[in-house]
Amino acid sequence: MAVIAIYSVKGGVGKTTTAANLAWCSATISCRKTLLWDLDVAGGAGFLFDVAPDHPRASLVLKRDVKATDAVIATAYDRLSLLPADDTLRELDTVLGRIGKRKRLARIAGKLGRTFERIILDCPPALGQISAQVMRAADVIIVPMPPSPLSARSFDLVVKEIKAHAKQHPPILPVLSMIDMRRNLHRQAREANPEWPVIPLSSVVEQCAVRREPVGVFAPGSPAARGYGQLWTAIERKLASL
Ligand SMILES: Nc1ncnc2c1ncn2[C@@H]1O[C@H](COP(=O)(O)OP(=O)(O)O)[C@@H](O)[C@H]1O
Ligand SMILES: [Mg+2]
Repeated sequence: MAVIAIYSVKGGVGKTTTAANLAWCSATISCRKTLLWDLDVAGGAGFLFDVAPDHPRASLVLKRDVKATDAVIATAYDRLSLLPADDTLRELDTVLGRIGKRKRLARIAGKLGRTFERIILDCPPALGQISAQVMRAADVIIVPMPPSPLSARSFDLVVKEIKAHAKQHPPILPVLSMIDMRRNLHRQAREANPEWPVIPLSSVVEQCAVRREPVGVFAPGSPAARGYGQLWTAIERKLASL
């Protein structure tokens, strides 16, 4: 079992879209039993798969009042399940602070590991209890970043903030998340970080939120679908090297 966190201190950088598409790659391309765990109260991951919880109990799972496996719901895809977010996550940081168990998320993920081979965490754009718990639970952290000449600097800042909040942390992998090679500055960002995986800026990716399907389903030959597939392969390779 491996836990892959999609994380950034920033919002709107493509975390949820990346998490949803990677979860689909894991379940469909790698044929892994996969759980997408939505930790962001905004609930974007559930929206992208067009599934919603019957009962709001996301924070009850973390309080251990509800068994995590009981809160998991199926998606339209084989091997792919969702642990959805809901409004109860609004108080998540306070709840985790009050519980005082530093490895609560890691422990629950460990239990879920009896059922799932890959757990993908869609994280809220925040530093605090939740990010600290994510650092303790994850085997690898993916940081999506829109390309700019300052991408490397903004990646360093995210790493610095992670380090400030977590003494130990898993390997952190940057991804250029909305790259448009027609733009000069985007090309420069690509050239400055040639080894970073890229996801193209693409209307096909935007369509995910309209069709409520991952790109691999409705545009399998698109550069975006290839980008997510290659990123997933890079993650599996990283996990194998740990
Ligand atoms: N590669 C991409 N190309 C085009 N639009 C994208 C891409 N990735 C994300 N988006 C769009 O950017 C917005 C923010 O993405 P989202 O995944 O919700 O970010 P976050 O979870 O970091 O807040 C959404 O409208 C999404 O459709
Ligand atoms: Mg999000």
